[in-house]
Amino acid sequence: MSFLKVKDLSVFFKRNTNDTQKAFAYKKDIQVVNTVSFEIEPSQIFGIVGESGCGKSITAYSLMGILPNNAYSEGEIIFNGQNLTTLSGEQRRKLRGNQISMVFQEPMTSLNPVFTIGYQIAEVLMTHKGFNKGKAMTKAVELLNAVKIPSPELRVKDYPHQLSGGMRQRVMIAMAIACTPAILIADEPTTALDVTIQSQILKLIDKIKKDMGMSILLITHDLGIVYENTDRVCVMYAGRFLETAKTIELFKNPRHPYTIGLLKSLPVNKNIPLSPIPGIVPRPDNLPEGCKFSNRCLFALEACKEQEPDLMPVSDEHYVRCIRAGEHLWKMA
Ligand SMILES: Nc1ncnc2c1ncn2[C@@H]1O[C@H](COP(=O)(O)OP(=O)(O)O)[C@@H](O)[C@H]1O
Ligand SMILES: [Mg+2]
Repeated sequence: MSFLKVKDLSVFFKRNTNDTQKAFAYKKDIQVVNTVSFEIEPSQIFGIVGESGCGKSITAYSLMGILPNNAYSEGEIIFNGQNLTTLSGEQRRKLRGNQISMVFQEPMTSLNPVFTIGYQIAEVLMTHKGFNKGKAMTKAVELLNAVKIPSPELRVKDYPHQLSGGMRQRVMIAMAIACTPAILIADEPTTALDVTIQSQILKLIDKIKKDMGMSILLITHDLGIVYENTDRVCVMYAGRFLETAKTIELFKNPRHPYTIGLLKSLPVNKNIPLSPIPGIVPRPDNLPEGCKFSNRCLFALEACKEQEPDLMPVSDEHYVRCIRAGEHLWKMA
């Protein structure tokens, strides 16, 4: 059984036709997520990795039902047998924070500066569980303890600015897990934090998964984080999945040149110079023909620039979108 099954999810932004672009109004909407499919199993940490701008957050927002007003999605998001895309706004609001919740990259901007952290956690419980304020505040202290905030009975009265970045992220996690959701989406939860705090937060997320049995979607631009923390991973580029596999398999046997490029830009040993992927991520309204990575790919052939390949199986549960996937390019890189 899978908790969450995403089928051919696409997300588009409407073009703004009120400005000088009016002349281009005939152009199609801008697609930033392109028919992605995946399944998250119970108690699994599932990773999505890719450079900035490839569509990771927008994928997460569509799962949460919080896309910006000028965006819309296509495809299915099936959670516990129910297609979420057919639900009303009110029904989705009920699921949010309760069954599916999310931790964002910037813990400061998602906390309200004028309320104590205790109150903000309590509010989640009052809204979704109908707790009275006293019971919710008691539970807030327990949650602060669960996310390892020292002296929780004192810190519960703190305002967000009184906490460090790492502590604020712990508070965000406490809010996200308050109603024991089935799925926690963590979107670059440690990107704003320094390295030692990063690993503490990731350990905490892993512990929560084990203690509460929830499934976690961990979004990151950092393959190192994927390696240490996920069970399965999708490598995303220009709104598409280019490679998906069990994490161990992806690192043992990377097949897509983009994955290989990301691996080569990992700082494994300070004596080996890093080799970043040349070029920059193309804008979604200006993607190359054929394979979307072909203009940066060290292994591209003429055929790559003509037709975009499908995501094809190379072995059990390992899929790659590259016509050269069978050539073991990793060994030549
Ligand atoms: N509100 C928006 N309006 C128009 N385009 C947007 C908006 N938000 C994001 N995008 C575009 O959608 C693409 C994917 O963005 P995002 O999912 O945030 O990337 P990631 O999280 O992987 O860095 C980017 O090209 C970005 O510019
Ligand atoms: Mg993002």
